[in-house]
Amino acid sequence: MHNPIPITGDIHWIGVNDRETDLFEAQWPLPEGVSYNSYLIRAGKTALIDTVKKTHLTQFLKKLKGLVAGGREKVDYLIINHMEPDHSGAVPVLKQLFPEMTIVGNKKTLELVKDFYGIEVGTMTIADGDVLDLGGHALRFILTPMVHWPETMMTYDETSRVLFSGDAFGSFKTLDGGLFDDEINIARYDDEILRYFSNIVGKYSPMVQKAMARLQGIDIGVVASTHGPVWRKAPNYILDRYDLWSRYIAEPGVVVAYASMYGSTLEMAEAVSRGLSLAGVKEIRMHDVARTHPSYIIRDAWRYKGIVLGSCTYEIGLFPAMRGLVELLEEKGLKNRCLGIFGSFGWTGGAVRNLKSFVEKSAWSLVEPVVEVKCAPDEHQLEECVALGRNMAGAISD
Ligand code: FEO
Repeated sequence: MHNPIPITGDIHWIGVNDRETDLFEAQWPLPEGVSYNSYLIRAGKTALIDTVKKTHLTQFLKKLKGLVAGGREKVDYLIINHMEPDHSGAVPVLKQLFPEMTIVGNKKTLELVKDFYGIEVGTMTIADGDVLDLGGHALRFILTPMVHWPETMMTYDETSRVLFSGDAFGSFKTLDGGLFDDEINIARYDDEILRYFSNIVGKYSPMVQKAMARLQGIDIGVVASTHGPVWRKAPNYILDRYDLWSRYIAEPGVVVAYASMYGSTLEMAEAVSRGLSLAGVKEIRMHDVARTHPSYIIRDAWRYKGIVLGSCTYEIGLFPAMRGLVELLEEKGLKNRCLGIFGSFGWTGGAVRNLKSFVEKSAWSLVEPVVEVKCAPDEHQLEECVALGRNMAGAISD
């Protein structure tokens, strides 16, 4: 994606693909990369909306300078929907290149501009509902705090009906030649859209719902997020998904996540999954927590109604990777799930006791039986695991 791409006649995408960063926010794997989307509106005045991570400045500035006639045209406004440095990394350099440029943001944005980059002059504070007229494009600001930081907002172009939505409606995965939803195979993005939502935005689902309410009645022709595809053919596709996920609406299916050192808990997990299958569940996702990054398990937990967690005991508690997963599930605040638990121990218990604590904290519906095994499961205990699978199948179809 070496050139700016027109979205409408005078709005261009000038974002970049990041194929080099291994971990987003130093923790979420990016096997398929990510894009940082920036947009330029050239009307009576020229406005840039969000920028890119500083690691990709060279590509970004090449596109920007190409559009603004070798740097001779001014950038009048830089509108910052979101200050996280994957989008604000170019701010200091832009301020040097275009010293007359006005940085536009809400009160919290401009505090962060000062704290991150030491910039205090040449700024314009806007409030919710304010309109900035570029002369040919009227931009309305919609404050959407905590989607994903306190300062996050959206900018709606009333003229072109493009919603510049910040992190909301974004996705992991680079743009491999196609920018728009009608240029790509959306199915190739679905998993990474949900992994992005569930791990980056999902914790703030109540705030996403508030943002969705704010968007009611707005005629949205194009959704232009800071990450992933631009939705111009079917903007409702992405709007609807974020709406469903932030209401914790799940699909029929079950995640079976297990930790096993010597095979006992794995054998139990296999029995649970068999019980699910015998009861007709076709969407079953088994994850070994020691070998699967939790972001993928969180993604599937957000997708499916049933979650079964099984852990061996390690040092009188949960196996460390399972402890990490449980903490992450708690932190993300996922709601309205059916939960099954099982586990094993050698010389003293601990895993199941800790999983029971999670049952209470999560307030999810516990599906019986809870199966706990010393050393290795016998036939009766494996039948109990099958029964747990069957009961879970019933619970998710209620
Ligand atoms: Fe893509 Fe919250 O930054």
